[in-house]
Amino acid sequence: MNKHICPLPESIALEKSQVSGTPENWDRSGLPAWAYTSDELLELEKEQLFRRHWQIAGHVSDAPEPGNYFCFDVAGERALIVRDKQGAIRAFHNVCRHRGSRVVSDEKGKCGSALVCPFHGWSFNLDGTLRSVPQPRSFPELDPEEHGLVPLEFEVWHGFVFVRFKPGPQPSVKELLARHEPEVALYKAASAVSHGEVSWSQTIKANWKCVRDVDNEGYHVPIAHPALQDLYGSTYFDEGWQDGTNRSFGVFNARKGRLWSTRHYLSILPEIPHLPDSHRRAWLYIGIFPNQVMFFYPEGLGYYQEYPTGVVETVIRGGYYCQPIGDSEDSDYARRLRAARYLAGRIDGDTGNEDVQLTIWSNEAMHSSGFKDFVLSDLEYGVKGHHDQLRKVMPVLSLSEAPASGMVEATNAAMQAARQEAGA
Ligand code: FES
Ligand SMILES: [Fe+2]
Repeated sequence: MNKHICPLPESIALEKSQVSGTPENWDRSGLPAWAYTSDELLELEKEQLFRRHWQIAGHVSDAPEPGNYFCFDVAGERALIVRDKQGAIRAFHNVCRHRGSRVVSDEKGKCGSALVCPFHGWSFNLDGTLRSVPQPRSFPELDPEEHGLVPLEFEVWHGFVFVRFKPGPQPSVKELLARHEPEVALYKAASAVSHGEVSWSQTIKANWKCVRDVDNEGYHVPIAHPALQDLYGSTYFDEGWQDGTNRSFGVFNARKGRLWSTRHYLSILPEIPHLPDSHRRAWLYIGIFPNQVMFFYPEGLGYYQEYPTGVVETVIRGGYYCQPIGDSEDSDYARRLRAARYLAGRIDGDTGNEDVQLTIWSNEAMHSSGFKDFVLSDLEYGVKGHHDQLRKVMPVLSLSEAPASGMVEATNAAMQAARQEAGA
């Protein structure tokens, strides 16, 4: 699954190099190569980005009943999302208060009325309070609250469960995504249900920003993604990054698809009753800084995100959800819906595989002595928009050469302080 950004319909011939919506003159060079190869920068990114910005952990339907839970690890942090006895979603660090073991080890599961740590057997109620410990007389008295699981900041937005490990610059999720709220509401995402596993994931050998760079532009679509081009290549547009989010929208081409998957998808997709005409034949994407996208198709919805597990190792993870209607029915509508979901998955799967190859090649370039810098097209302005936000959080990224060894964090802190002093 991938979104692609194309600010103008391909059919519009540009009279000059500038595409509408982009400034006259802008820095087309992208981030410096060292930003993709630095261990020190990775540590800064984990702290400044991944621990301090909202991350989609999953969807409420991943924990449908009391006792259901799911987990999400990122940047050395571990989240545990559980539905409590009253049916409310709760989030904790997946860190046992005894000696720090994972309280639950599976990505997804169901417990009874307590979570039992697999190390020594401490058990916790679903509200996080400590319930019991084996051999309690070997401890002084343990306060259930004080020794309960550490709560994690979280927010549920249209069924998506966001977590944040440390306070950060973004406002609440509701505020962050407010401008998208009316449109997302059309899809009834809160009542969608998990379609299989809690999430899919894939590990690739590339810096995480290479993944995002590829996903943030649509200039490559006509060449690299035949199926997407066939689906909505003539209409796709991107609004650009604005206050940490980005909306992209593609209305299906009027012509019949040329490829097997798109042709059948376009012909078999039924009219979804809860969607207005404007969204019955279109794909919508909402990008959320720094590393994730929610997508909304007529027949299903979900998210994908990428996060680093090393300088040149990235996990791409996502979840897919759809309205329960029709799954158990044998009506023509249900059959068409199921087929459409399958075909959309084929299109996304092909696109994802194509992007992985492009991402790996981009990553290799960052280690090459032949790489100078990017020469971005106006059609790749989304890459620049994302880089601008990264530079805002980590001003050290505006340096064309890496700071001396061991100095990335200190240099960044000094640049941040200087910027604050200057009132920028
Ligand atoms: S670490 Fe959990 S019970 Fe010991
Ligand atoms: Fe792509």
